[in-house]
Amino acid sequence: DKGGHKHFMAKEIAEQPRVIGEAIMHYLSDDGRSVELPGKGIDFTAIDRLSMVACGTAYYACVTAKYWFEQLAGLPCDVDVASEFRYREPPVPARTAALFVSQSGETADTLAALRYCEGKAATILSVVNVPESSIARESDLALPILAGTEIGVASTKAFTCQLTVLLMLALKAASDRGRMDADTLADTLAKLRALPSAFNAAMEDADDIAAAARKLAEARDILFLGRGLMYPLAMEGALKLKEISYIHAEAYASGELKHGPIALIDKHVPVVVMAPRDALFDKTTSNMQEVIARGGRVLLITDKEGKRITHGDAWLTLTMPDIDPLLAPILYALPAQLLAYHTAIAKGTDVDQPRNLAKSVTVE
Ligand code: M6R
Repeated sequence: DKGGHKHFMAKEIAEQPRVIGEAIMHYLSDDGRSVELPGKGIDFTAIDRLSMVACGTAYYACVTAKYWFEQLAGLPCDVDVASEFRYREPPVPARTAALFVSQSGETADTLAALRYCEGKAATILSVVNVPESSIARESDLALPILAGTEIGVASTKAFTCQLTVLLMLALKAASDRGRMDADTLADTLAKLRALPSAFNAAMEDADDIAAAARKLAEARDILFLGRGLMYPLAMEGALKLKEISYIHAEAYASGELKHGPIALIDKHVPVVVMAPRDALFDKTTSNMQEVIARGGRVLLITDKEGKRITHGDAWLTLTMPDIDPLLAPILYALPAQLLAYHTAIAKGTDVDQPRNLAKSVTVE
């Protein structure tokens, strides 16, 4: 049942404020001031390292979470694509928590990577959407993301719910490890609780995003740029676009631009720049100016003040509600998803069942 939407993907995008809100409430303590995990939970003072493994969109959720775990909790993190991890046979030091992220919980490479860590890691955690899946069953602690069934092959609500749960886990790690005091934790959780309403506000600008997507649909190649927490989201935006619109899209960390990719810039290659006003905003927008100076057409995704500061220099600007930079990758997933969705609609491709792809990759 598409619930009145044309596609499952549109329905699942629209469900995000509700399911994100439910995931937050599931892990929030009764007084709203701390994070509570099911079962015996995990004591982050007992581990020295976190190793996260996943595929596709779930991998980009892990790359985002690496920034959170390292910055908030001071916990060193590795992130690997499961198909590489399992055959590289990396050493897993004893005080390592291994964390596997998977919507389906059945991805063959991710499951094989989990089995490789059995008997090596101090504990095996998973963040899954399907609680009865193999990955959930074989973990010491499985954390459900509670996104509900996801049917669209292009993952949307599972991604933002994965991010939500991973951020809450990073906040717990920060508090366990004495890196965040109780009031800061409570304040951050209060901001997180306001995220669903920011999502709803952002959805009011869906028409602007659709109009921008119709312009992107004419391109053959598109670049996505971001820094810090926005870099993994740029990768996710590029993946989403190529999966359903078949337009070639690549993401780069903005700072890498002048190390090669800038050679690709001309008026035929639109560049999507993800830039909330965080500590790296000036650096990202100066990369944007380098693109503009070479005739590139920039689609800037920022907030009102970001638009004002950049004087409308970009070819197109999409404005998002103001948000704490820590939470920006979750909120900015929405325009990334809607750009891909409306580009695919403009091109007439099969949004829910893109060619050559399966929802769950149970063979390697
Ligand atoms: O079920 P999983 O989360 O383990 O699946 C991982 C990837 O196959 C999946 O995220 C894939 O990249 C999606 N089609 C992305 O939209």
